[in-house]
Amino acid sequence: MKTILITGSNGLLGQKLVYALLKRKDIHIVATSSGANRLVITDGYAYETMDITKKAEVEQVFMKHRPDVVINTAAMTNVDACESKKGECYEINVIGVQHIVEVLEQMAAGERRPHLVHLSTDFVFDGTKGSPYVETDQPNPLSYYAFSKAESEKVVQKSKINWAIARTIIVYGIVDNMSRSNIVLWAKDALTKGQSINVVDDQFRAPTLAEDLAEGCILIADKGATGIYHLSGPDTFSILELVYKVADFWKLDRSLITPSKSDTLNQAAKRPPYTGFIIDKARKDLGYAPHSFEEGLKILDQQLK
Ligand SMILES: NC(=O)c1ccc[n+]([C@@H]2O[C@H](COP(=O)([O-])OP(=O)(O)OC[C@H]3O[C@@H](n4cnc5c(N)ncnc54)[C@H](OP(=O)(O)O)[C@@H]3O)[C@@H](O)[C@H]2O)c1
Repeated sequence: MKTILITGSNGLLGQKLVYALLKRKDIHIVATSSGANRLVITDGYAYETMDITKKAEVEQVFMKHRPDVVINTAAMTNVDACESKKGECYEINVIGVQHIVEVLEQMAAGERRPHLVHLSTDFVFDGTKGSPYVETDQPNPLSYYAFSKAESEKVVQKSKINWAIARTIIVYGIVDNMSRSNIVLWAKDALTKGQSINVVDDQFRAPTLAEDLAEGCILIADKGATGIYHLSGPDTFSILELVYKVADFWKLDRSLITPSKSDTLNQAAKRPPYTGFIIDKARKDLGYAPHSFEEGLKILDQQLK
Protein backbone atom coordinates (compact mmCIF):
# COMPACT_ATOMS: atom_id res chain seq x y z
CA MET A 1 0.00 0.00 0.00
CA LYS A 2 1.27 3.45 -0.95
CA THR A 3 1.42 6.15 1.74
CA ILE A 4 0.56 9.70 0.67
CA LEU A 5 1.23 12.47 3.16
CA ILE A 6 -0.59 15.76 2.69
CA THR A 7 0.63 18.98 4.29
CA GLY A 8 -1.85 21.81 4.93
CA SER A 9 -4.68 19.25 5.05
CA ASN A 10 -7.01 21.78 6.72
CA GLY A 11 -6.86 24.03 3.64
CA LEU A 12 -9.03 24.07 0.52
CA LEU A 13 -6.88 21.77 -1.58
CA GLY A 14 -5.69 19.73 1.41
CA GLN A 15 -9.24 18.76 2.40
CA LYS A 16 -10.21 17.89 -1.19
CA LEU A 17 -7.16 15.64 -1.40
CA VAL A 18 -8.04 13.82 1.81
CA TYR A 19 -11.66 13.30 0.73
CA ALA A 20 -10.66 12.17 -2.80
CA LEU A 21 -8.06 9.71 -1.49
CA LEU A 22 -10.48 8.29 1.10
CA LYS A 23 -12.31 6.70 -1.85
CA ARG A 24 -9.17 4.72 -2.71
CA LYS A 25 -8.44 1.37 -1.09
CA ASP A 26 -4.81 1.29 -2.23
CA ILE A 27 -3.66 4.44 -0.42
CA HIS A 28 -2.77 5.04 3.22
CA ILE A 29 -3.41 8.75 3.91
CA VAL A 30 -1.47 10.82 6.40
CA ALA A 31 -3.11 14.24 6.74
CA THR A 32 -1.05 16.94 8.44
CA SER A 33 -1.67 20.61 9.19
CA SER A 34 -0.42 23.18 11.67
CA GLY A 35 -3.32 22.99 14.14
CA ALA A 36 -6.05 20.57 15.15
CA ASN A 37 -7.78 18.59 12.39
CA ARG A 38 -10.71 20.63 10.98
CA LEU A 39 -12.21 17.93 8.74
CA VAL A 40 -15.64 16.65 9.72
CA ILE A 41 -14.74 13.06 8.77
CA THR A 42 -11.87 11.87 10.92
CA ASP A 43 -11.92 8.11 10.22
CA GLY A 44 -9.99 6.22 7.56
CA TYR A 45 -6.74 8.16 7.74
CA ALA A 46 -4.03 9.27 10.15
CA TYR A 47 -3.85 12.89 11.29
CA GLU A 48 -0.73 14.55 12.67
CA THR A 49 -0.30 18.14 13.78
CA MET A 50 2.74 19.31 11.84
CA ASP A 51 4.04 22.83 11.32
CA ILE A 52 6.35 22.81 8.31
CA THR A 53 8.37 25.71 9.75
CA LYS A 54 9.51 23.35 12.52
CA LYS A 55 12.00 20.91 11.02
CA ALA A 56 11.94 18.60 14.06
CA GLU A 57 8.19 18.12 13.58
CA VAL A 58 8.59 17.39 9.87
CA GLU A 59 11.36 14.90 10.66
CA GLN A 60 9.39 13.16 13.38
CA VAL A 61 6.20 12.80 11.28
CA PHE A 62 8.00 11.77 8.06
CA MET A 63 10.16 9.20 9.89
CA LYS A 64 7.10 7.78 11.65
CA HIS A 65 5.00 7.37 8.47
CA ARG A 66 7.71 7.01 5.77
CA PRO A 67 5.53 8.47 2.96
CA ASP A 68 6.01 7.38 -0.64
CA VAL A 69 4.51 10.67 -1.80
CA VAL A 70 4.26 14.07 -0.09
CA ILE A 71 1.80 16.61 -1.51
CA ASN A 72 2.78 20.00 -0.12
CA THR A 73 -0.25 22.27 -0.09
CA ALA A 74 0.73 24.10 3.12
CA ALA A 75 1.48 27.75 2.49
CA MET A 76 0.77 31.29 3.58
CA THR A 77 -1.74 32.03 0.83
CA ASN A 78 -3.05 35.50 1.73
CA VAL A 79 -1.22 37.53 -0.90
CA ASP A 80 -1.64 40.93 0.81
CA ALA A 81 -0.71 39.56 4.26
CA CYS A 82 2.52 38.22 2.72
CA GLU A 83 3.38 41.80 1.74
CA SER A 84 3.09 43.09 5.32
CA LYS A 85 4.45 39.95 7.04
CA LYS A 86 7.36 39.06 4.79
CA GLY A 87 9.30 37.18 7.48
CA GLU A 88 6.38 34.89 8.28
CA CYS A 89 5.69 34.37 4.58
CA TYR A 90 9.31 33.40 3.89
CA GLU A 91 9.38 31.02 6.87
CA ILE A 92 6.30 29.12 5.69
CA ASN A 93 6.58 29.34 1.91
CA VAL A 94 10.35 28.89 1.53
CA ILE A 95 11.96 27.58 4.73
CA GLY A 96 9.07 25.17 5.30
CA VAL A 97 9.61 23.74 1.82
CA GLN A 98 13.34 23.48 2.52
CA HIS A 99 12.54 21.39 5.61
CA ILE A 100 10.34 19.03 3.59
CA VAL A 101 13.00 18.67 0.89
CA GLU A 102 15.83 18.08 3.39
CA VAL A 103 13.94 15.39 5.27
CA LEU A 104 12.90 13.69 2.01
CA GLU A 105 16.52 13.81 0.84
CA GLN A 106 17.56 12.02 4.05
CA MET A 107 14.91 9.38 3.36
CA ALA A 108 15.94 9.10 -0.30
CA ALA A 109 19.40 8.13 0.85
CA GLY A 110 17.83 4.92 2.14
CA GLU A 111 15.97 2.24 0.22
CA ARG A 112 13.16 4.38 -1.27
CA ARG A 113 12.91 7.50 -3.37
CA PRO A 114 9.98 9.54 -2.13
CA HIS A 115 8.11 11.78 -4.55
CA LEU A 116 7.30 15.40 -3.69
CA VAL A 117 4.38 17.16 -5.36
CA HIS A 118 4.74 20.83 -4.51
CA LEU A 119 1.99 23.40 -5.13
CA SER A 120 2.78 26.71 -6.74
CA THR A 121 0.98 29.55 -8.44
CA ASP A 122 0.33 31.50 -11.65
CA PHE A 123 1.57 34.54 -9.67
CA VAL A 124 5.18 33.46 -10.35
CA PHE A 125 4.54 35.12 -13.75
CA ASP A 126 4.28 38.88 -14.27
CA GLY A 127 1.16 38.57 -16.44
CA THR A 128 2.46 40.73 -19.26
CA LYS A 129 2.64 37.95 -21.88
CA GLY A 130 -0.98 38.68 -22.86
CA SER A 131 -1.92 35.02 -23.31
CA PRO A 132 -1.96 31.87 -21.12
CA TYR A 133 1.36 30.59 -19.81
CA VAL A 134 3.14 27.30 -20.56
CA GLU A 135 5.39 25.45 -18.11
CA THR A 136 8.57 26.66 -19.82
CA ASP A 137 7.74 30.39 -19.58
CA GLN A 138 10.07 32.42 -17.37
CA PRO A 139 8.83 33.41 -13.88
CA ASN A 140 9.04 37.08 -12.92
CA PRO A 141 7.18 37.54 -9.61
CA LEU A 142 5.57 40.90 -8.82
CA SER A 143 4.66 40.50 -5.13
CA TYR A 144 6.33 39.07 -2.04
CA TYR A 145 3.96 36.06 -2.03
CA ALA A 146 4.86 35.42 -5.67
CA PHE A 147 8.57 35.82 -4.90
CA SER A 148 8.29 33.32 -2.02
CA LYS A 149 6.55 30.76 -4.23
CA ALA A 150 9.12 31.26 -7.02
CA GLU A 151 11.88 30.72 -4.42
CA SER A 152 10.12 27.58 -3.20
CA GLU A 153 10.14 26.26 -6.76
CA LYS A 154 13.91 26.77 -6.90
CA VAL A 155 14.35 24.87 -3.61
CA VAL A 156 12.36 21.96 -5.04
CA GLN A 157 14.09 22.06 -8.43
CA LYS A 158 17.55 21.99 -6.84
CA SER A 159 16.68 18.98 -4.67
CA LYS A 160 17.91 15.43 -5.20
CA ILE A 161 14.48 13.86 -4.80
CA ASN A 162 11.83 13.02 -7.38
CA TRP A 163 9.80 16.22 -7.63
CA ALA A 164 6.86 17.71 -9.44
CA ILE A 165 5.64 21.30 -9.21
CA ALA A 166 1.91 21.79 -9.77
CA ARG A 167 1.08 25.42 -10.49
CA THR A 168 -2.54 26.49 -10.19
CA ILE A 169 -4.80 29.55 -10.44
CA ILE A 170 -7.60 30.95 -8.23
CA VAL A 171 -9.04 27.83 -6.70
CA TYR A 172 -12.72 27.72 -5.75
CA GLY A 173 -14.77 25.27 -3.74
CA ILE A 174 -16.18 24.60 -0.31
CA VAL A 175 -14.69 22.59 2.55
CA ASP A 176 -15.31 21.97 6.26
CA ASN A 177 -14.67 24.83 8.72
CA MET A 178 -13.05 27.04 6.10
CA SER A 179 -10.34 29.42 7.29
CA ARG A 180 -10.73 31.66 4.25
CA SER A 181 -13.14 32.24 1.42
CA ASN A 182 -12.56 32.29 -2.33
CA ILE A 183 -13.77 34.50 -5.16
CA VAL A 184 -16.82 32.39 -6.08
CA LEU A 185 -18.14 32.06 -2.52
CA TRP A 186 -17.33 35.71 -1.77
CA ALA A 187 -19.24 36.98 -4.81
CA LYS A 188 -22.18 34.62 -4.28
CA ASP A 189 -22.41 35.56 -0.62
CA ALA A 190 -22.24 39.33 -1.20
CA LEU A 191 -24.77 39.27 -4.05
CA THR A 192 -27.13 37.01 -2.08
CA LYS A 193 -27.09 39.59 0.74
CA GLY A 194 -27.79 42.34 -1.80
CA GLN A 195 -24.41 44.00 -1.25
CA SER A 196 -22.78 46.04 -4.03
CA ILE A 197 -19.35 44.87 -5.06
CA ASN A 198 -16.52 46.37 -7.10
CA VAL A 199 -14.94 43.81 -9.40
CA VAL A 200 -11.87 44.29 -11.58
CA ASP A 201 -12.13 43.93 -15.34
CA ASP A 202 -8.37 44.22 -15.96
CA GLN A 203 -7.21 40.93 -14.40
CA PHE A 204 -7.63 37.68 -16.32
CA ARG A 205 -7.48 34.21 -14.73
CA ALA A 206 -8.47 30.58 -15.30
CA PRO A 207 -10.53 29.61 -12.22
CA THR A 208 -9.85 26.11 -10.94
CA LEU A 209 -12.35 23.81 -9.24
CA ALA A 210 -10.66 22.50 -6.08
CA GLU A 211 -11.72 18.90 -6.94
CA ASP A 212 -10.04 19.18 -10.36
CA LEU A 213 -6.81 20.41 -8.79
CA ALA A 214 -6.88 17.57 -6.24
CA GLU A 215 -7.44 15.09 -9.08
CA GLY A 216 -4.50 16.57 -11.01
CA CYS A 217 -2.20 16.20 -7.98
CA ILE A 218 -3.33 12.61 -7.47
CA LEU A 219 -2.69 11.84 -11.16
CA ILE A 220 0.86 13.21 -10.72
CA ALA A 221 1.30 10.99 -7.66
CA ASP A 222 -0.16 7.89 -9.38
CA LYS A 223 2.00 8.29 -12.45
CA GLY A 224 5.12 9.31 -10.55
CA ALA A 225 5.27 12.28 -12.93
CA THR A 226 8.12 14.74 -12.51
CA GLY A 227 8.74 18.31 -13.67
CA ILE A 228 6.40 21.29 -13.80
CA TYR A 229 2.67 20.92 -14.51
CA HIS A 230 0.11 23.65 -15.09
CA LEU A 231 -3.18 22.58 -13.47
CA SER A 232 -5.98 25.12 -13.83
CA GLY A 233 -9.49 25.27 -15.19
CA PRO A 234 -9.71 25.18 -19.00
CA ASP A 235 -10.94 28.74 -19.64
CA THR A 236 -9.43 32.15 -19.01
CA PHE A 237 -11.58 35.24 -18.53
CA SER A 238 -11.62 38.49 -16.58
CA ILE A 239 -12.54 38.51 -12.89
CA LEU A 240 -15.52 40.69 -13.86
CA GLU A 241 -16.73 38.07 -16.33
CA LEU A 242 -16.18 35.38 -13.70
CA VAL A 243 -18.34 37.24 -11.19
CA TYR A 244 -21.04 37.86 -13.83
CA LYS A 245 -21.08 34.10 -14.45
CA VAL A 246 -21.50 33.52 -10.70
CA ALA A 247 -24.40 36.03 -10.61
CA ASP A 248 -26.09 34.45 -13.64
CA PHE A 249 -25.67 30.89 -12.37
CA TRP A 250 -27.40 31.61 -9.04
CA LYS A 251 -29.81 34.14 -10.65
CA LEU A 252 -28.46 37.02 -8.57
CA ASP A 253 -28.63 40.72 -9.35
CA ARG A 254 -25.94 41.69 -11.86
CA SER A 255 -26.59 45.41 -11.27
CA LEU A 256 -24.90 45.09 -7.83
CA ILE A 257 -21.61 44.52 -9.65
CA THR A 258 -19.57 47.61 -10.53
CA PRO A 259 -16.66 47.13 -12.93
CA SER A 260 -13.45 48.62 -11.55
CA LYS A 261 -9.71 48.80 -12.18
CA SER A 262 -6.97 47.11 -10.15
CA ASP A 263 -5.27 50.38 -9.24
CA THR A 264 -8.40 51.65 -7.44
CA LEU A 265 -8.41 48.75 -4.98
CA ASN A 266 -5.37 49.86 -2.94
CA GLN A 267 -4.26 46.26 -2.47
CA ALA A 268 -0.85 45.85 -0.81
CA ALA A 269 0.37 43.25 -3.31
CA LYS A 270 0.65 43.84 -7.04
CA ARG A 271 -1.15 41.21 -9.15
CA PRO A 272 -0.26 40.04 -12.67
CA PRO A 273 -2.78 41.41 -15.18
CA TYR A 274 -3.18 38.30 -17.37
CA THR A 275 -2.35 34.73 -16.42
CA GLY A 276 -4.27 31.59 -17.42
CA PHE A 277 -2.49 28.38 -18.34
CA ILE A 278 -2.05 26.17 -21.35
CA ILE A 279 -2.84 22.79 -19.77
CA ASP A 280 -1.98 20.57 -22.75
CA LYS A 281 0.99 18.95 -20.98
CA ALA A 282 -1.19 17.85 -18.05
CA ARG A 283 -3.93 16.65 -20.40
CA LYS A 284 -1.46 14.61 -22.46
CA ASP A 285 0.84 13.21 -19.73
CA LEU A 286 -1.68 12.79 -16.94
CA GLY A 287 -5.11 12.61 -18.54
CA TYR A 288 -6.05 15.76 -16.58
CA ALA A 289 -9.56 16.78 -17.68
CA PRO A 290 -10.85 19.76 -15.68
CA HIS A 291 -14.50 20.84 -15.70
CA SER A 292 -15.63 24.02 -17.43
CA PHE A 293 -16.44 26.88 -15.04
CA GLU A 294 -20.19 26.32 -15.51
CA GLU A 295 -19.83 22.59 -14.72
CA GLY A 296 -17.71 23.51 -11.69
CA LEU A 297 -20.43 25.86 -10.40
CA LYS A 298 -22.98 23.04 -10.77
CA ILE A 299 -20.78 20.73 -8.66
CA LEU A 300 -20.32 23.44 -6.03
CA ASP A 301 -24.06 24.14 -6.01
CA GLN A 302 -24.79 20.47 -5.25
CA GLN A 303 -22.30 20.56 -2.38
CA LEU A 304 -23.86 23.73 -0.96
CA LYS A 305 -27.22 21.93 -0.87
N1 LIG B 1 -6.21 29.05 -3.51
C1 LIG B 1 -5.73 29.59 -4.61
O1 LIG B 1 -6.42 30.38 -5.26
C2 LIG B 1 -4.34 29.26 -5.09
C3 LIG B 1 -3.89 29.80 -6.29
C4 LIG B 1 -2.60 29.50 -6.74
C5 LIG B 1 -1.80 28.67 -5.97
N2 LIG B 1 -2.26 28.16 -4.78
C6 LIG B 1 -1.37 27.30 -4.01
O2 LIG B 1 -2.02 26.07 -3.76
C7 LIG B 1 -1.69 25.58 -2.47
C8 LIG B 1 -2.95 25.24 -1.69
O3 LIG B 1 -3.74 26.39 -1.57
P1 LIG B 1 -5.10 26.40 -0.75
O4 LIG B 1 -6.06 27.23 -1.50
O5 LIG B 1 -5.49 25.02 -0.36
O6 LIG B 1 -4.64 27.24 0.52
P2 LIG B 1 -5.29 27.32 1.97
O7 LIG B 1 -6.73 27.00 1.92
O8 LIG B 1 -4.86 28.62 2.53
O9 LIG B 1 -4.56 26.12 2.72
C9 LIG B 1 -3.24 26.17 3.15
C10 LIG B 1 -3.17 25.39 4.43
O10 LIG B 1 -1.83 25.41 4.92
C11 LIG B 1 -1.91 25.51 6.32
N3 LIG B 1 -0.67 26.05 6.84
C12 LIG B 1 -0.28 27.35 6.90
N4 LIG B 1 0.92 27.45 7.47
C13 LIG B 1 1.32 26.20 7.77
C14 LIG B 1 2.47 25.66 8.39
N5 LIG B 1 3.46 26.45 8.83
N6 LIG B 1 2.56 24.32 8.56
C15 LIG B 1 1.54 23.52 8.14
N7 LIG B 1 0.41 23.97 7.58
C16 LIG B 1 0.31 25.30 7.38
C17 LIG B 1 -3.06 26.43 6.58
O11 LIG B 1 -3.54 26.26 7.90
P3 LIG B 1 -4.73 27.19 8.50
O12 LIG B 1 -5.95 26.80 7.73
O13 LIG B 1 -4.78 26.78 9.91
O14 LIG B 1 -4.31 28.59 8.25
C18 LIG B 1 -4.06 25.98 5.53
O15 LIG B 1 -4.90 24.98 6.05
C19 LIG B 1 -0.78 26.63 -1.84
O16 LIG B 1 0.55 26.24 -1.99
C20 LIG B 1 -1.04 27.88 -2.65
O17 LIG B 1 0.10 28.72 -2.68
C21 LIG B 1 -3.52 28.43 -4.34
